[in-house]
Parts: sequence; structure tokens; C-alpha cells
Amino acid sequence: MDAGDWDDRYRDTELVWSAGPNLFVEQQSGDLPAGRSLDLAAGEGRNAIWLAERGWDSTAVDYSSVAIDKARQIAERRGVTITTEVADLGGYLPTQGAYDLVIIAYLQLVEAELTPILRRAAAALASGGRFVLVSHDLSNLDQGYGGPQEASVLTTPNQVAEAIGGALTIDLAEVVERHVQTDGGQKTALDTLVVARRSA
Ligand SMILES: C[S@@+](CC[C@H](N)C(=O)[O-])C[C@H]1O[C@@H](n2cnc3c(N)ncnc32)[C@H](O)[C@@H]1O
Repeated sequence: MDAGDWDDRYRDTELVWSAGPNLFVEQQSGDLPAGRSLDLAAGEGRNAIWLAERGWDSTAVDYSSVAIDKARQIAERRGVTITTEVADLGGYLPTQGAYDLVIIAYLQLVEAELTPILRRAAAALASGGRFVLVSHDLSNLDQGYGGPQEASVLTTPNQVAEAIGGALTIDLAEVVERHVQTDGGQKTALDTLVVARRSA
């Protein structure tokens, strides 16, 4: 999918993703004191807006201008301000050493495209800063529910850890279960979860 396809998807549905934050983002960043955060591939901003509500100076970046417009409007309705940028992460260079928290949620790209984005995301962390990535895991294809059905855009914890391991200390790199309510009952999706930090 390119930016135009994502624009169409966001235009056609009132809210594509949930209104609240992703469970793993919430669990892995809820303990941090507010600082500067960067949400890459932020979509409609569910995580960036949640962080802003917790006092973070929150920036959301996505190449879908429709998604970013929605994120701005939702933030305004909820009485918080977020900084937004419409940019293709393929060429986006976040300010180095500037952020206390960098989040990437469900950015499903082939490894050759994802790796440089992960490395630039790692470089954007300030000393002591935390990196949280959650994405559809490769094992979800055979053993989990939903998500992209193309193996090349699915991740493994090792793949992500290897991409950023030179720059950051890996605190967690594992496959986690996410429970999804469907018309056919509860299903289990399998996600890659990687949490890392830039040493102080
Ligand atoms: C599955 S959505 C996840 C949105 C959000 N992170 C969330 O969890 O709610 C993937 C997002 O990645 C964005 N995206 C995909 N490729 C991108 C790229 N090269 N540059 C910027 N955004 C991109 C899409 O526009 C879309 O909003």
C-alpha cells in the first residue's frame, strides 16, 4: 500500500484503529515520566494523543495526510495538542538525540525498507530514552489471527533487535499474544514486541 491507498482507507472509515492506545504501547511506556515523544507511522494518532493526554510533548508522523488531519482533529476534540508531520519515513530523518520515547506500531514494510527506518528511529532517542516497537509477527501468518497475509512485511523479534541492537540496549524482544474480539468470538493475534533503550 502507498500513501494514496492509506489515504483512501482512512477517508472511508470513521476510525480505522481503536480510539485508545495500543495495549503494548500503554504497558511499555505508561511508567515513564512525560518528556518528548515521537510516534512514527502514527496513523490516526491513537498512541500520540494518549501520550499528549499524559503530558507528553507528542509528535506524530505519517505519510497519509488524511490520517494526520484526523489525528489533529481528534486531539483537538480531546483538548490536547500534538505536533504533526506528513512525511514518508523512507526519507524522514528525525532530529537525532531529541526524544525520550520513540514508538513504532504496526509499520509493516519489507526488511530492506524497515531496517533504515528503525536505525534512524534509534538515533532519534535521547540518552536514557526508550524505544517501543509492536508489529504483526511472522508467526501470525500460520498461528495467529488477522494482519497482513504477506510474509515479507511481517517481522520477528530477532530481526528488529538486530536492526537496532548496535545502537540500543535491548530490554525485551519477544512474540506476544493480543486478544481480538470478533463476531466469531475471541481470537489471538501474534505480535512482535521490542523494547530497547539508549544507555544514559
Ligand atoms: C497499520 S497502520 C498503524 C497506525 C498506527 N501506528 C496505529 O497503530 O494506530 C500503518 C501506518 O503506517 C503508515 N505508513 C506506512 N508506510 C509509511 C511510510 N513509508 N512513511 C510514513 N508512514 C507510513 C500508514 O499510512 C499507516 O497509517
